[in-house]
Amino acid sequence: MDAVTLAEPRMKGDVEPLVRLARADMSAVDRLIVARMQSQVPVIPLLADHIVAAGGKRLRPLLTVAAARAAGATSDIEAPIKLAAAVEFIHTATLLHDDVVDASQLRRGKVAAHLIWGAPSSVLVGDFLFARAFELMVETGQMRALGILARASSVIAEGEVLQLTRAHDLNLDQETYLRIISAKTAELFAAAAEAGAVGAGAGDKTVEALRSYGLNLGLAFQLADDALDYGGSSDVLGKNAGDDFHEGKVTMPLLLAASRTRGREDAFWERTINRGERTEDDFRRARELIIGTGAVATTLDTAYAYADAAKIALKALPAGEWRAALEQLADFAVSRAA
Ligand code: IPE
Ligand code: IPE
Ligand code: MG
Ligand code: MG
Repeated sequence: MDAVTLAEPRMKGDVEPLVRLARADMSAVDRLIVARMQSQVPVIPLLADHIVAAGGKRLRPLLTVAAARAAGATSDIEAPIKLAAAVEFIHTATLLHDDVVDASQLRRGKVAAHLIWGAPSSVLVGDFLFARAFELMVETGQMRALGILARASSVIAEGEVLQLTRAHDLNLDQETYLRIISAKTAELFAAAAEAGAVGAGAGDKTVEALRSYGLNLGLAFQLADDALDYGGSSDVLGKNAGDDFHEGKVTMPLLLAASRTRGREDAFWERTINRGERTEDDFRRARELIIGTGAVATTLDTAYAYADAAKIALKALPAGEWRAALEQLADFAVSRAA
């Protein structure tokens, strides 16, 4: 599959400057992740290592560390590092659960864990990682950061349940779609940045700005993810493109294409989404319609609008290399290919 090309050329973001700045902090986060996923119960480290060693972009812990630094933390960032590892554990737990719920076969370029160890082990190891995240947070002694990430965990679960019950219906409205992606994805980005700022002892204005940055970044990120499910390539993504269509999940590209082909393709959408009768050929047709009607391009434009809002939120912070790197990350969240 060809990767999607944007309708108009834009300045693409880059995650490299931030990765470079945060290298030492992120090594500490990675060491902590590996140390804390250990257990005497053999399947736990095996399964956890399968998904953790596969990598992933580590975007959310990067946000926690960068928020702490951008908020002025200089030397002692032990608490934000623990919070960052906790954030990645929460994220990894949701991925293990999400792949069972979505019946996804590929994650981070590897066979999904539930296909190797079964859905029960995947779900239970997800629970283990969630619990380890809370142990790490308690160790920081930072009740406020703990509260932020505890709340995010329940909001993510609400988002996934809301999606399960509402997102398989072509009559889904934009508002509910945004509510779903805000809860299942953007909330953790918001909480990751907010907790990093709180962990660094930042003032209210800075904490609020970084939360707003994370929330808008998370919305941009999930909109781009939903576009990539039709416009991206499985090889690069490390997960299968087409998963959303194959499970009948209604996302913004599909909503737009259904509305732009109204009167012409109603029977096709009604059969494939509402009645759930789908073949591989149907996916190819859906993909053509979705790309052909410009629905992927509009979804990406919407994502860029949220990325712009994220950058505006950063203006409340003092200018500097961390703020500049976070600004570039906003566009990367949309222009990424994986
Ligand atoms: C995947 O997140 C889940 C979504 C919110 C779309 P990432 O794309 O950040 O996953 P990894 O951690 O890099 O694998
Ligand atoms: C991801 O949603 C949200 C969570 C994991 C909580 P998706 O279902 O779109 O993510 P992918 O596409 O499987 O990574
Ligand atoms: Mg999924
Ligand atoms: Mg997806």
